[in-house]
Amino acid sequence: MNIFLAGASGLVGSAFARAAARRGHRVVGTVGTFAGAIEGLTTKLSVDLGNEGATTAAVLDEFPQAIVNCAAISVPEQCDAHPAVAQALNVALPATLARLAHHVGARLVHLSSEQVFNGAQRAPYGAGDPVAPINLYGRQKIESEHAVHAAAPEFAVTIRAPLLMGNSAAGRRSLHERLLADWAAGRTPGLYTDEFRQPCTAENLAEVMVEMCERNDVHGVFHWAGTELISRYDLGRRLRDHFKLGEKQAPLLAVSRADHPDAVRKRQACLALEISPLAGKLKTRPQSIDAQLEELIVPPPVREWYLSLA
Ligand SMILES: NC(=O)c1ccc[n+]([C@@H]2O[C@H](COP(=O)([O-])OP(=O)(O)OC[C@H]3O[C@@H](n4cnc5c(N)ncnc54)[C@H](OP(=O)(O)O)[C@@H]3O)[C@@H](O)[C@H]2O)c1
Repeated sequence: MNIFLAGASGLVGSAFARAAARRGHRVVGTVGTFAGAIEGLTTKLSVDLGNEGATTAAVLDEFPQAIVNCAAISVPEQCDAHPAVAQALNVALPATLARLAHHVGARLVHLSSEQVFNGAQRAPYGAGDPVAPINLYGRQKIESEHAVHAAAPEFAVTIRAPLLMGNSAAGRRSLHERLLADWAAGRTPGLYTDEFRQPCTAENLAEVMVEMCERNDVHGVFHWAGTELISRYDLGRRLRDHFKLGEKQAPLLAVSRADHPDAVRKRQACLALEISPLAGKLKTRPQSIDAQLEELIVPPPVREWYLSLA
């Protein structure tokens, strides 16, 4: 299958390129600023995805059977800092890709986020539960879902993803990569003991997305995540143990939401996701935290520091 991948250099995009190549697909993937190689791509294109004309030309040139959208301004603080840029990437781009999918008759796999919910509920959120975003990123993700399914209802599937673990192309994007960078620089990162997430790896999510490309009998909005809910602080401790680091080499500060009333207004306390409707339709299985940890490697930017500890 010919797949057009928007955002091939991102945490999920690079995992998708590898997963799709393993299944024998031909993937044309876009990058913005990333200059390195991306395993699994047949062709790497530099495209400004904030430019509708450039995006349209790139997709029509390829005339793909599936379009996969992994491009975004995916850090909520960056959306607040650059709202117009974030609107272009998080809302206008998926709308354009959906119109193109409808035009060329391609499957569209779009990514949204757990952050469409406010996190006040302890029970897992179902995909049909009322959304209630508490930050701009969450509001843009909802807008993108509406735009995508209005423009290409018969072609599109949206997966709302949780906090993602994994190995990124530049080795600086995901949680373990940021924690290791902090420790290598002698910093003590703070993690909330009372914020709970249900993480999965970008690799596991990518396998789901490849399956979604390969079948066209699943449409609408679904959730995907791992099998366990965990606090950010406990996840940090599990990561430290996984990399066999001690408390001195890898200190963590336990932070409580009550200590940061301003910051937590835009942060959800608990985001548990109901994944059974999608899990029941797929060969890919959701993973335990232990299985996710097994996939993580020491990224190149901190490898020298890490080896020096031995
Ligand atoms: N990471 C998470 O924990 C998480 C959780 C839930 C949902 N999600 C969603 O999952 C999707 C993938 O997230 P991610 O973490 O993989 O994102 P990411 O690592 O931040 O990657 C973003 C991608 O978008 C590209 N991009 C951004 N602006 C661009 C522009 N103007 N022109 C061309 N490319 C541009 C980047 O290209 P360059 O780097 O080459 O510039 C990169 O390939 C997003 O929709 C995100 O909202 C992520």
